[in-house]
Amino acid sequence: MSGLIPTGIRRILAKDQRSGLERGHRRAEVIAVCAQKGGVGKTTTAVNLAAGLATNHGKKVLLIDMDGQGHCAAALHAELQGVVGDSLTGVLLGKRRDVLELALPTKIPGLSVVPSDKMLGATEGVMAGRIGKEFLLKGAMKIARTHFDVVIIDCPPNLGTLTTNALLAADWLLVPCDMSTLSVEGVDDIFHTIETIEDALDHHIHVLGILRTRYDGRNQKVNEAVEATLERFARHVLPQRIPINTTLAQAQLAGTSVGRFDPRSSGAVAYNDLADEVVTRIADRA
Ligand SMILES: Nc1ncnc2c1ncn2[C@@H]1O[C@H](COP(=O)(O)OP(=O)(O)OP(=O)(O)O)[C@@H](O)[C@H]1O
Ligand SMILES: [Mg+2]
Repeated sequence: MSGLIPTGIRRILAKDQRSGLERGHRRAEVIAVCAQKGGVGKTTTAVNLAAGLATNHGKKVLLIDMDGQGHCAAALHAELQGVVGDSLTGVLLGKRRDVLELALPTKIPGLSVVPSDKMLGATEGVMAGRIGKEFLLKGAMKIARTHFDVVIIDCPPNLGTLTTNALLAADWLLVPCDMSTLSVEGVDDIFHTIETIEDALDHHIHVLGILRTRYDGRNQKVNEAVEATLERFARHVLPQRIPINTTLAQAQLAGTSVGRFDPRSSGAVAYNDLADEVVTRIADRA
């Protein structure tokens, strides 16, 4: 009988037996939220996009925090349920287990979170010495992917090994870019990185878009200058802009999504629009 099972399927079954986890019936689209510059709204975008996709679109969403600062769990502290069983570091280095084991449900229906741990920064150095160091997260997401519709990975503010792991695990790249020339320079670097990944590691990532964040309508001169430098990426710039809105920071402090904190705020409306756009773009590619 075993002779009738193709080798590929036999390998998959063996892997599942090894992790002891059951496969689900979904196949998540994986989005890496990535920008080299700090403080441009990566975590705010990852958290509120994840909540928007779960709440407004009925998606099963997993938010993975690949940044040792641990901001995703902090930003959702009022919503998290359960206690984390192991560390993301352990999973990345252990290889035998899957991030699914770390997923904490939240009170936001459909949304689960894999928190980071403080060791993650130090882990980066250990990962760098491993064979296949770029694929550790991808390997640790195989089962998790089958249980969710969307996985969103919040990246640290650099293009180190943790970010490379996120990009290699991802189908899509979303780049938050605040209205500064430094931020636009960072976009160049990320696009160069994904080209290198495509050439050297044979992994293609679709650009979901460049998201203009912290947009201050009163700063017309600065906005026009930055928009002009973004011109070369025009086909990737999303139509939505996230305005400067203190409600976003207040929601983060309260440990919940902006949609739950104040659904009428300009931040909530903008992130709802972004979730709609993301659903459309992903569906268009399918
Ligand atoms: N559109 C916005 N309006 C007002 N405040 C914002 C906005 N977006 C983010 N913030 C605030 O700016 C700070 C930085 O945002 P966030 O943590 O999302 O950035 P980040 O890119 O993830 O930073 P890091 O690079 O450190 O990971 C937070 O206090 C957040 O609440
Ligand atoms: Mg962050």
